[in-house]
Amino acid sequence: MPRVPAPDVAWSGSGDLNTAIAWVDAAQRIVVLTGAGVSAESGVPTFRDAQTGLWAQVRPEDMASEPGFRADPAGVWAWYEHRRALLQGVQPNAGHRALADFARRHPGRLTLVTQNVDGLHQMAGSEGVLCLHGELRGNRWLDDPRGCCDMAHAEAGAPPRCATCGNLVRPAVVWFGESLPIDILGQAEEAVSACDLMLVVGTAGAVYPAAGLAHMARRIGARVLIVNPAPSELDSTAHAVLRGPSAEVLPLLLGRDRPAGDTPPAAAPR
Ligand code: OAD
Repeated sequence: MPRVPAPDVAWSGSGDLNTAIAWVDAAQRIVVLTGAGVSAESGVPTFRDAQTGLWAQVRPEDMASEPGFRADPAGVWAWYEHRRALLQGVQPNAGHRALADFARRHPGRLTLVTQNVDGLHQMAGSEGVLCLHGELRGNRWLDDPRGCCDMAHAEAGAPPRCATCGNLVRPAVVWFGESLPIDILGQAEEAVSACDLMLVVGTAGAVYPAAGLAHMARRIGARVLIVNPAPSELDSTAHAVLRGPSAEVLPLLLGRDRPAGDTPPAAAPR
């Protein structure tokens, strides 16, 4: 007898929904790695979808690299302003909310690591989100700021600039060829090294070092569970794959509390 209604999703790998729920119940420390797919049902485009993905429309080396920005600051700035405008009015979906609610109900049990720059996890109420790729709404200086560079008084423009030295303002996202914020990546790795379950949600698993966190989880003996309606590059690293949209699957997976006195299930094969 299933403990929850059967979802309208196909399951593959070494488990089914109830097994996955049992893994969540049994886990003392859970790390969740999210990607663009978790925001797809909020209307935010993903990157690698063949038709609607952002990288189907522009070249990442033009729009998401420092050389691209230096070559065409106005064009790149306009693209980010366009993406920021798209976020106006976008709301977190049931997947974001399920993660935030679970963390609230289980303090200290879940660490949320995201590649997303849309801020929707935070908007859903998740705290301490480890943003590996920065935040779309934020800005920083292109070159090391000098004494004259004051963000609050940047000269308006597209992009804004320091009125004194001309230093340009750029979006505070990580571009190709750049390092991830070392402290954030370090915190993510520390959380993974202590976890016994990793959920990998809505990511193609094509970008490193983020995708490497799933390999690390597998290496240290944690269970790895993927939520994604389509195949990803991390499928072979996972113990099970839940084929479905995260706004449907995450509430089923995380939306209930471990019953009082429930004995954690016997360990599944690792
Ligand atoms: P991708 O666009 O590469 O992958 C999105 C993933 O979401 C795919 O595997 C889809 O199958 C899946 N997906 C689509 N709809 C979904 C849904 N409703 N529920 C769950 N999953 C769904 O996005 P990321 O893997 O996040 O980096 O891309 C990683 C990084 O590459 C991004 O952070 C960005 C990009 O270049 C930078 O800009 C630095």
